[in-house]
Amino acid sequence: MRQLTNIDEIQAYVSDKRNGGCSIGFVPTMGALHQGHLSLVDESCAKNAITIVSIFVNPTQFNNPTDLEKYPRTIEADIQLLSQTGCDAVFIPEVETIYSQDFKAEKVDLGLLDKTMEGFYRPGHFEGVVTVVQRFFSIIKPDCAYFGRKDFQQVAVIRKMVEWLDLNVKIFEGPTTREKSGLAMSSRNLLLKQKEKDEACIIFKLLSIMVDDAVNFTPTEVKNKAIESFKKTTLTLEYLEIVHPRTFEYLETGWVEGATVCLVAYCGNVRLIDNMEIIPFSN
Ligand code: PAJ
Repeated sequence: MRQLTNIDEIQAYVSDKRNGGCSIGFVPTMGALHQGHLSLVDESCAKNAITIVSIFVNPTQFNNPTDLEKYPRTIEADIQLLSQTGCDAVFIPEVETIYSQDFKAEKVDLGLLDKTMEGFYRPGHFEGVVTVVQRFFSIIKPDCAYFGRKDFQQVAVIRKMVEWLDLNVKIFEGPTTREKSGLAMSSRNLLLKQKEKDEACIIFKLLSIMVDDAVNFTPTEVKNKAIESFKKTTLTLEYLEIVHPRTFEYLETGWVEGATVCLVAYCGNVRLIDNMEIIPFSN
């Protein structure tokens, strides 16, 4: 596995492979890798001749400086984990490399996506994500890029960006990888004490109850019942919304296929994000 840090190196690497006719798969990450990230890497390796993973804790997508400072960094372990996958190259740039003077991101109108849920509670977050992913796409020019369903709204933001900028990259969404307990894997789980980790499994349990409740109740009723249940736990909800899977409009009276509940809950100081599809697509 190649380890690359500057733009000339990665572009020379990609150009060499592309001239050899290889398709390039790309998995952007912020490191502190876990099985959720690795499942995306495996998916890319299965579908592309070459897989590139980036590790870059992107400062512009953190609206909270303490969150950025505390974000786990485990670079040696990450490289070790990646070397056991089919990943061909890992790109680990410095902040100055990505945010060099000559780079200017194009603005993307995210519409409702930037005003609801993550867009609302983390002002500037998606602008930072769009900026950095745009930058990576322009450096690597992948054929396919892989994102996790765990960050449901982020996938929609990336799709919107690709459409808006008319980029030639296919976006794939991988399922959420969970611990045995149901807790969605997350780099931030490293910040949880064991007791908090045990308490956090309630998120998956309450999400699953919402799926069952949808048979008998409206979206608003299901939502309110879940909010009441959260009040009985040690977690603090930031938001819990049931949304249309494409428009992200809040559902209130009627269900649609792909209706998804999205939530953020604080376990101590740790911000945990999760979601679950409530109504499956019938195909
Ligand atoms: P990060 O949180 O490191 O996640 C990298 C990718 O892994 C994202 O697409 C995320 O949705 C996916 N992922 C995280 N946990 C997952 C899980 N439990 N199951 C499946 N996929 C999971 O998301 C980011 O970084 C950044 O915003 C980034 C896109 C790299 C831009 O900086």
